[in-house]
Amino acid sequence: MTIRTSSTAAVLARAAAMAGYAPSVHNTQPWRWTIRPDRMELTAVRSRQLPAIDPDGRLLMISCGAALHHARTALTAAGWDYTVDRLPVPDQPDLLAVLTPTVHREPDAAAARLVQTVELRHTDRRPVSDTQLPEATLTQVVAAAEAEGIACGLLTGEHVFDLAAAASRADAVEKADPEIQDELTYWIGRHDRLGIPPGTLTGEQPATTVPVRDFGQPGALPSGPGHDRAARYAVLFGASDEPSCWLRAGEALSAAWLTATRLGASVLPLSAVIEVPVTRTALRRAIDDLGWPFLVLRIGIADPDHPGAAHPPRLPIAQIVDLEEVRHLLGRD
Ligand SMILES: Cc1cc2nc3c(=O)[nH]c(=O)nc-3n(C[C@H](O)[C@H](O)[C@H](O)COP(=O)(O)O)c2cc1C
Repeated sequence: MTIRTSSTAAVLARAAAMAGYAPSVHNTQPWRWTIRPDRMELTAVRSRQLPAIDPDGRLLMISCGAALHHARTALTAAGWDYTVDRLPVPDQPDLLAVLTPTVHREPDAAAARLVQTVELRHTDRRPVSDTQLPEATLTQVVAAAEAEGIACGLLTGEHVFDLAAAASRADAVEKADPEIQDELTYWIGRHDRLGIPPGTLTGEQPATTVPVRDFGQPGALPSGPGHDRAARYAVLFGASDEPSCWLRAGEALSAAWLTATRLGASVLPLSAVIEVPVTRTALRRAIDDLGWPFLVLRIGIADPDHPGAAHPPRLPIAQIVDLEEVRHLLGRD
């Protein structure tokens, strides 16, 4: 059944606005939504792809996948069943997904609880506290990712040290690459609602088991006394290293992160180790060659005694949502 009503257009527009809060690499927000009377389309914005660290578009696709999951969650919370066509047109690789609402049911309480976390979720780069993450929390976060069809493997023992070694090597490779350093500088402290504000970066590079990304300039956020000892590390991975899997990995990232936020846990994506080919291969060995790694997640309990990170700004809705075709419908709402 296809639905074409003014209220459908309004629900789709609200879902697209909600998707604007999704996490994205360097806060590039590389997505655009087109709202049509009966569906919404997600398109990649290649001009905001990062050519130095993301020449393949892997991180762009993961970011867009996170936005797709945000929109899906908003539709479910509003009571809509929908179909999702991912990469529906082979010769239009930037048309990433089409969401088409089908049947309206009761609003979904579990999705509504996740929607409440959308504006709370944020990237916290401080070391996590020494409070152990409850196993039940970890289990739910992993299950949320895996429900999106992407494996989420927890690293234990020596594999965490393998990750730490790979992350150090990735850091060294990226520091020695002037194009990567220029790109990083370009995306920090901008004034156009894109990129990473210094208020979300720590004042000094935190002492952690697995190095977090060094953004090359001190931020305004106190690091706090933690050392990350209680942090857990997970790898999102899949059967093949291609755009359809990267999009799914983004959906898994969003599902895991919103679930973690609901349960009071903090997630930090670590992608440098994925960006550098040699460390991506090393990470593949750390997950016993079970698949292709897409993203590392540090999971823990944020330090409660220190101020949290600021929220990076987002682009205005008008820049990420095209309402041209439904404006007449929205006017009647
Ligand atoms: C694919 C992807 C990779 C990311 N990699 C890193 C990373 O390596 N280090 C980091 O500190 N943050 C990383 N982030 C977090 C983004 O910088 C963050 O989502 C963005 O700045 C928006 O901030 P917010 O998550 O607080 O809304 C990554 C996010 C995504 C989606």
